[in-house]
Amino acid sequence: MKICCIGAGYVGGPTMAMIAHKCSGHTVTVVDINQSRIDAWNSDVLPIYEPGLDEIVKASRGKTLFFSTDIDTAIREADIIFMSVNTPTKTYGVGAGRAADLRYIEKCARKIAEVAENDKIVVEKSTLPVRTAESIKRILESNSKGRKFQILSNPEFLAEGTAVADLENPDRVLIGGDQTPDGLAAIQKLVDVYAQWVPTENILTTNVWSSELSKLTANAFLAQRISSINAISALCEATGANVDEVAHAIGTDSRIGPKFLKSSVGFGGSCFQKDILNLVYLCEHFGLPEVAAYWNGVIEMNDYQKHRFGRRIISTMFNTVSDKKIAVLGFAFKKDTNDTRESAAIYVCKDLIEEQANVSIYDPKVPEAQIRRDLGLAEDATAVTICDDAYEATKNAHAVLILTEWDEFKALDFKKIYDQMNLPAFLFDGRNLLDLDALRSIGFEATGIGRG
Ligand code: UDX
Ligand code: UDX
Repeated sequence: MKICCIGAGYVGGPTMAMIAHKCSGHTVTVVDINQSRIDAWNSDVLPIYEPGLDEIVKASRGKTLFFSTDIDTAIREADIIFMSVNTPTKTYGVGAGRAADLRYIEKCARKIAEVAENDKIVVEKSTLPVRTAESIKRILESNSKGRKFQILSNPEFLAEGTAVADLENPDRVLIGGDQTPDGLAAIQKLVDVYAQWVPTENILTTNVWSSELSKLTANAFLAQRISSINAISALCEATGANVDEVAHAIGTDSRIGPKFLKSSVGFGGSCFQKDILNLVYLCEHFGLPEVAAYWNGVIEMNDYQKHRFGRRIISTMFNTVSDKKIAVLGFAFKKDTNDTRESAAIYVCKDLIEEQANVSIYDPKVPEAQIRRDLGLAEDATAVTICDDAYEATKNAHAVLILTEWDEFKALDFKKIYDQMNLPAFLFDGRNLLDLDALRSIGFEATGIGRG
């Protein structure tokens, strides 16, 4: 079979690389309108950083895996077309700030209708509001010229930083399709692709709407756990309890479970906020304001947590950070990725810049230009310095913040860092990565999230 994927991003690229890696009988072509992104996929330095991705891309590239900007040819030749274009939160018009912007998805559907010459299976890989498949179907069928299109929903559950491992060994693969003979046959074709490496009992099939809604619900539940533990972290700070101890204690209850209970400076990433806003918008649209308010609380708690961290820094540092040097270690939204979308670090840095602090930032994978874009800074803006390592960033600093839980930060020589800082030297661990007692014994005034 020939498989095509429109959108060579964080989801489309790794997912197709894994399909090519596992299914040597199929040809996989990933297309994108962005020429420089495709060039990067074809180069030695891939456009996204994911542990293990280089190896699987390099093993299949040019053999069964291709990256191209020739979207028309790829669509024409494909039996199965994945749509993995971005679906950001709408910034204009009706539903601005909450609804998903579906213009790229619609453009894809129109493109497929325009160039396809035979029957196709079209797979929604992007996370979409419930019933989007219906719109895609109408666009395709209004211009079908005798061709038959089957629309499947196959949401991706991979997390960045562990994309390759998640794709290789997914908890489940979810495929939604029409419960008609043609729909069921299309579902089976996609099941057969994944069954090359995923045990069939882990491949779930449902109707289209259940599949679309399951993705939004999964992300809402995951984010809700983080907001719940972050809410408790504020109470821990007020009472002297330790949020890590509380998380461990509740996580041993098998009904709760230990994962996704790590208190932090706030969740980021391209999905959680966008998908919950989308869920909230859907609930309002369907006349369910109480349900909308319930889920919106998860976002409100996350916003509170991000700004609460900044306020705590300022109040601890004698109520002013003006002209003080603050070293920020970590800018990505989590470790092992170069992605900064919705990273809590953006909000914390902006709050500190607003307070006229001098912020110096080090992240092992995020390029300087990206950090400047995220903070809305001109190339020559002096409020922020981007450094090549943690020692340079912390030199003469008044405080160090840990904003991403990169493993390399655990191995830093904090005595050396302390010795080159202004005293008293503050450390705020926004990821609860470090041993505060060890830092205090060096001399740091160290605090973490939900810890005294
Ligand atoms: C994905 C999913 O698709 C999204 O729904 C999910 O919620 C987050 O993850 P992601 O892969 O992270 O998106 O997005 P991004 O890295 O921005 O990649 C999308 C790609 O699609 C970009 O490279 C963009 O150039 C491409 N694109 C966009 C097209 O090729 N055509 C378009 O019309 C629009
Ligand atoms: C998430 C979902 O996990 C994935 O299934 C979906 O396909 C896309 O959205 P991702 O955003 O890539 O994946 O990463 P994830 O590991 O879920 O982390 C999201 C954010 O939550 C990060 O900022 C992370 O640091 C934070 N987080 C995660 C916590 O603060 N505490 C935790 O216990 C777990």
